[in-house]
Amino acid sequence: MCGIVGYSGNKNAINVLLDGLKALEYRGYDSAGIAYRTCNRIEIIKASGKIVNLEKKLKKNTNSNMGIGHTRWATHGKPNETNSHPHRIGKFTIVHNGIIENYESLKKLLIQNGYKFKTETDSEVIAGLLDKLYSEKNDILKVIVELKKLLIGSYALGIICDDIPDKIYAVRKDSPLIIGIGDNENFIASDVPAILKYTNKYMILDDSEIAEINDKVNIYNDKLDIVFKEAITFEGNLEVAEKNGYEHFMLKEIHEQPEVIKNTVSPFLKNGLESLNDNMPDFGKYNKIDIIGCGSAYHAGLIGKSLIEKYADIPVNVYVASEYRYKKIFTDEQTLVILISQSGETADTLACLRKVHEMGINTLAIVNVVGSSLAREADKTIYTKAGPEISVATTKAYLAQITILSLIALAIGYNKKLISEKKALEIIDSYEKLPSIIEKLTCYDYKNIAKALYKKNNCFYIGRGIDYALSMEGSLKLKEISYITSVAYPAGELKHGTISLIEDGTNVIAIVTDKNIADKTISNIKEVKSRGAVITLIVADKIDDDFDFADYKVVTPSVNDFISPMVNAIPLQLIGYMTAKLKGCDIDKPKNLAKSVTVE
Ligand code: F6R
Repeated sequence: MCGIVGYSGNKNAINVLLDGLKALEYRGYDSAGIAYRTCNRIEIIKASGKIVNLEKKLKKNTNSNMGIGHTRWATHGKPNETNSHPHRIGKFTIVHNGIIENYESLKKLLIQNGYKFKTETDSEVIAGLLDKLYSEKNDILKVIVELKKLLIGSYALGIICDDIPDKIYAVRKDSPLIIGIGDNENFIASDVPAILKYTNKYMILDDSEIAEINDKVNIYNDKLDIVFKEAITFEGNLEVAEKNGYEHFMLKEIHEQPEVIKNTVSPFLKNGLESLNDNMPDFGKYNKIDIIGCGSAYHAGLIGKSLIEKYADIPVNVYVASEYRYKKIFTDEQTLVILISQSGETADTLACLRKVHEMGINTLAIVNVVGSSLAREADKTIYTKAGPEISVATTKAYLAQITILSLIALAIGYNKKLISEKKALEIIDSYEKLPSIIEKLTCYDYKNIAKALYKKNNCFYIGRGIDYALSMEGSLKLKEISYITSVAYPAGELKHGTISLIEDGTNVIAIVTDKNIADKTISNIKEVKSRGAVITLIVADKIDDDFDFADYKVVTPSVNDFISPMVNAIPLQLIGYMTAKLKGCDIDKPKNLAKSVTVE
């Protein structure tokens, strides 16, 4: 949700900012802009649309060594050039990621004080407020402390003041911000990929801190005492921010999944059952679990529910975070709340964590981004080792999330003696085989299925139990990147109304991997087939039927329940991908979306 970047050093700032913005474009791509200091004044260049539009307007050999940049996902005001950042009022130029909830009252106050506004954004008031406070106090650090007291909402800010030529100031609350550390040059950014071309060392700025950046970095607390922080080294390389020959990041990330599985499971399995237990929190005292997430993370939670209830015999409720944060919560000290998030910055998920913490409930975060807010604030964190995910539609992070949840079901089930040692060892062994199974399924040709789908306006995904949970993720993948209206339904529920939408040629994608209820789902598939539906069947090898009702069929290998969701998610991801590709959609940057949803 918006990406910000800043640079102060001895390189050409315009090029550094542009590199940073390109690496952050997945966070928002309605418009973009940069502000840089040249010949002792601040130059601002903005463009609506993608970053290439901005790039065309830049004079890259302009002499400048410092500046800030922004790629926008519009919240307040249309995605046009005027509303795009940076915003400038008086002596202050700023970029902002987040939402200022009290911007209207602040704007009124500033207007009464003679300030004029050009944009419809909430962000512009920050520049005005800084200018007003600075005219009263003339001390930038004190002004920023004051600013933080006045702003309500979420923000990560890059700030330039005309009077302080080479310095950038940065501050945040509930929106991510890192400080990149180079040799006599430093950076600010919303995420690590933005700085990786120049440095892999960074610090995470805390909500209570202010950063002052030029060729040195000073971090201050609210009382303006200097804070000493260790730099973190990012373990990975620039390749994460490049497509490496793949047409899209989404495809690259789908192909990375065998490696992701290896990395995610290896700490848990390297020493058999011993390391499984050593790396898991103690689940012994919990008799109820609530799982919270948004979008695909919520769908991952549904897979977790299915496995934990079946194999660990603990009731699990799964909630969408934006609902959970406002509902009455029934928990006690024997309840564990698991929060799932790729970014670890999703506003609603973070709000749920804070809400249950206030109630004294224990939390476990399953998070991909190391050092993210959720990871830092949860009582315990398990990292999915998916590496940076650039494609807006998640694939590898989702797969890593369901892998961790299946390991949790295994660990609890084994410790409660519901799964024997022999069985548990067999299951552990199956995780080792999973990467090569996924690799094979990734190479299957899904083009025919996509051809039957890409000109349609709607599609249904159906399944029962865990297959319904998979359907929901498959359906989301299709709709978010191909813009085909797609609905996931429990297979047995269609006949209670929705089946009236099935007509000649309606596409139905059915998932049948659970042998125990396969017959029931197959009956439901036949019901829609007889009403004209075009059936694509994702079916596990172990299910016995001649499937003569299927127009298209993907047979997946028969595996145990613990790794089955990871296996069967692959065709769903690739059907979505191929369909969007045939339609010519902008797969990595679907319209209206952003990668990290840091607003409510
Ligand atoms: C869909 C997708 C989203 C995210 C959701 C939560 O492909 O990526 O539905 O799963 O926005 O994001 P995180 O996991 O960062 O909390």
